[in-house]
Amino acid sequence: MTSTGLGVLISGRGSNLGALLAAREAGRLPIPLRVVLSDRADAAGLDLARRAGVPALHIPPGPHRTRMSPEAEEEYVRALRGHGVDLVALAGFMRVLHAEFLGAFDGRILNIHPSLLPAFPGLDAPGQALRWGVRWAGCTAHFVTAGVDAGPIVAQAVVPVHDDDTPDTLAARILIEEHRIYPEAVACVAAGTFRVEGRRVILAGGGGTTFPSGFPGSTSRHVEGETR
Ligand code: GRF
Repeated sequence: MTSTGLGVLISGRGSNLGALLAAREAGRLPIPLRVVLSDRADAAGLDLARRAGVPALHIPPGPHRTRMSPEAEEEYVRALRGHGVDLVALAGFMRVLHAEFLGAFDGRILNIHPSLLPAFPGLDAPGQALRWGVRWAGCTAHFVTAGVDAGPIVAQAVVPVHDDDTPDTLAARILIEEHRIYPEAVACVAAGTFRVEGRRVILAGGGGTTFPSGFPGSTSRHVEGETR
């Protein structure tokens, strides 16, 4: 099933939103970006969207710290529907979504997370990776389900962990890959060129496994390079 309108939910700087806007500009996103919503009035991504001519709204989340009130969720759903959104991309949105919201866009919500899920779900994934001592980290584009960072995986990319990494340096390396795989994952889902078998998401034409440029022995499809 193809989608006809994309909505993006943010809470902060919006660099992944920026990657989606750049992909749209470059003709690599086969879906119009109809609206950007934020739970924070001061999210820098709101200005980014407005400068790109995309409607951007702050909708207060209610009194809770990590989730939204049912009334706020209803307002988000209303705003998204009102702007013709049928596919939602979370891009640094820091709130847990509940059944009503998930049901309103059933199977049509994506997220980008800075770890190789199922390792290190939740907050501070790069810090978790460093503390665990893994030698490889990365990011995951996945469908959103009721569990935190637990939905079917659309695409992943790996990056090396360096001995002198801090959570910030590792997060910065991962972010480069997020900007690469998230627009591609959103594009595939928007175009409907995938199927889901159990937990496995099979993208038409392969893909979904990507490596940093120049990764030795890489045989998977690379985002910019199509096939190799
Ligand atoms: C990214 O690291 C993303 O993986 C996580 O939150 C961060 C958002 O960054 N979910 P930005 O606002 O897109 O720059």
